[in-house]
Amino acid sequence: MTSSDEASTTFDLARYLAAKTTVDDRALNRHVLAELRGLMPAGAPRVLEVGAGLGTMVARLIDWGVVGGGEYVLLDADRQLLEGARRWLCDWAHARGLRSDLLPDGLQVGDLRVRLVHAELGGYLEAAHGARADVLIANAVLDLVDVPAVLPGLLRLLSPSGIYWFTVNYDGESIFAPDHPLDDQVMRAYHRDMDERIRYGRPAGESRTGRHLFHHLRDAGAPALAAGSSDWVVCPAPDGSYPADEAYFLRSILNTIRDALQNRPDRVKSADLAEWLAERGRQLAAGELVYIAHQLDFAGRSPG
Ligand SMILES: C[S@@+](CC[C@H](N)C(=O)[O-])C[C@H]1O[C@@H](n2cnc3c(N)ncnc32)[C@H](O)[C@@H]1O
Repeated sequence: MTSSDEASTTFDLARYLAAKTTVDDRALNRHVLAELRGLMPAGAPRVLEVGAGLGTMVARLIDWGVVGGGEYVLLDADRQLLEGARRWLCDWAHARGLRSDLLPDGLQVGDLRVRLVHAELGGYLEAAHGARADVLIANAVLDLVDVPAVLPGLLRLLSPSGIYWFTVNYDGESIFAPDHPLDDQVMRAYHRDMDERIRYGRPAGESRTGRHLFHHLRDAGAPALAAGSSDWVVCPAPDGSYPADEAYFLRSILNTIRDALQNRPDRVKSADLAEWLAERGRQLAAGELVYIAHQLDFAGRSPG
């Protein structure tokens, strides 16, 4: 489950994305990651990450030794987040003892030139572009866009020998434990909201993006060479504490569901939603809440 819209969220999106880092670290599928490493071009590739948010993925990929030199473009529709990315990446580099310098359009981290591009993806694909990317990345993003409409144009951003890594694609299953009698009703309504969502004036994703990507990728001429699950699993330690800032992450997930459903009493009665949220909030505060979201990762080659 992803959450992204500047206008409709009632939490700190930058803090949410930073809190999501440790959850994604555990979730990203290592078999698919190994495929990405095997396909990664030698030298100094040009990487384009769409919906890059705060830039936590480029930091992770430097940490994991997947990228080190070349150019890495962070594209996002949220200008504030991109501004936050410059600071966040500088602080991150500083904490690791990596040289970093702020530049007018991004920053330099060691040998990697990070460029920030403020653009809405649909509009970006419709406009003319310069150099194509060797590597295209989208993490927790494709479930926020109309994949059949966007995917062909997205893949055209790749050079003919380019590769893609599309990760953390939500796939229709959120589990909260312990069970609550209203779980099915709340999640059915939330999935319907995902399926009908409009953002930036365009249809914005669907709740079963993960499973549908197998065929969307094949139809776009770029079938996955590797696929696997990247489920988020967030649970408290035996003492009831959550790792890092993951309690905030869970609070943000609950707020996202609240924001999506609070004006839809036709789908979940207000009193039922309030009861469900109150109980989940109490379990979170008591260190009892477990959350699992089913997601899928894919890696493959450009149709070119
Ligand atoms: C759930 S966040 C994920 C951010 C980042 N990839 C991560 O995993 O930390 C989704 C991001 O996609 C961006 N986004 C959503 N729809 C977009 C669109 N149509 N065009 C460009 N960016 C978009 C949002 O602004 C947000 O930063």
